[in-house]
Amino acid sequence: MRIAFFELEGWEKGPINARLGRGNQITCISGPLNDGNIAQVRDAEVLGLFIYSRLDAKRLAKLPKLKMVATFSTGFDHIDVAECTRRGIAVANVPTYGSHTVAEHTMALMLSLAKKIILCAERTRAGDFSIEGLRTFDLADKNLGMIGFGRIGSQAARMARALSMKVWVYDPYADDNLLDLLRCQRARTLDELLAKADVVTLHAPLTPQTEHIINKATISKMKKGVIIINTARGGLIDTQALVEGLDSGHVGGAGLDVLEEETAIKEERQLAAPEFAASVNMKTLVANHRLLNKHMNVIITPHNAFNSHEALRRILDTSMDNIEAYVRGKTANAVNGKELAGKKRKARAKKKNKR
Ligand code: NAI
Repeated sequence: MRIAFFELEGWEKGPINARLGRGNQITCISGPLNDGNIAQVRDAEVLGLFIYSRLDAKRLAKLPKLKMVATFSTGFDHIDVAECTRRGIAVANVPTYGSHTVAEHTMALMLSLAKKIILCAERTRAGDFSIEGLRTFDLADKNLGMIGFGRIGSQAARMARALSMKVWVYDPYADDNLLDLLRCQRARTLDELLAKADVVTLHAPLTPQTEHIINKATISKMKKGVIIINTARGGLIDTQALVEGLDSGHVGGAGLDVLEEETAIKEERQLAAPEFAASVNMKTLVANHRLLNKHMNVIITPHNAFNSHEALRRILDTSMDNIEAYVRGKTANAVNGKELAGKKRKARAKKKNKR
């Protein structure tokens, strides 16, 4: 098979060639798929790519032999899956690659804030070993309010329990057995959780129901001095409301791996372009800058929670599993598996009726 990969890092080429090189023709392109390089992979039957390779209907039309796409990510909104299904192309993702990786980052942010690690390290780096203004607080016996108790949330809960924290969970679909096993409590309402929590941590997906779940009204229901941690998606927090909460001192600190409009922060050079300015919320960008520059009790990491050596190796291994399964005539982690099977069933029935 002709298999083309985009957005690979150098270290990934060895394992790919070792596992898929035999009997297949492999092409590796280091950047993302774009209109300039798509002709180079015109005959590809399988594509391996990451989230910066947009695969829309227009591009799919330029890949007439394509039969399978393996995205090296959990999310697949960069791929027009409906159009892939229409064309009979299987799309496979990496449903999970180590929830503990993101849970560990969550703990790192929470511990860094509680123990003032960044302030301490900055001071000693400047040769100052005084401890004035560096008093910390204990996490043991404090209430951790968790919104979302899925793969990552439950791992974070396990770790927080090991720190002797009391964990309160707000998640309509939380597994009762797992809650019992980890000795976590279910909050009956979001308000109950917000009123109890010394630290609020977010582990829910971004949906219309969860967008800005942390806003002016919900922040006002939290304890004074609350710490807010977000390693899920930036859109869960109304950034302006968070900045106001920090300005007034109602919010005691924030640890954020994700921000609203975070792509815009990464691509600030584009800000001068009028079409770009129209596509982002400038107010949010300004609020992000206040978070980044003004508050010493805010720690921001650049959407790095997933970026461990081990997680990346697992992403590569699962993506190769997905491709290998396809090459052997099977499917693994196909996000449109049901739709494709339905399509095949219909085609078979149509053929039978004709006979
Ligand atoms: P998951 O699907 O296993 O768990 C999400 C949980 O949120 C589910 O239990 C669900 O019932 C719950 N939930 C949904 N709507 C809710 C609501 N309205 N209120 C309360 N709970 C609600 O997802 P997983 O793998 O634990 O991921 C959680 C988040 O972490 C996702 O947003 C994901 O995109 C993000 N993430 C961030 C990474 C990073 O590098 N910062 C890396 C990987 C994931």
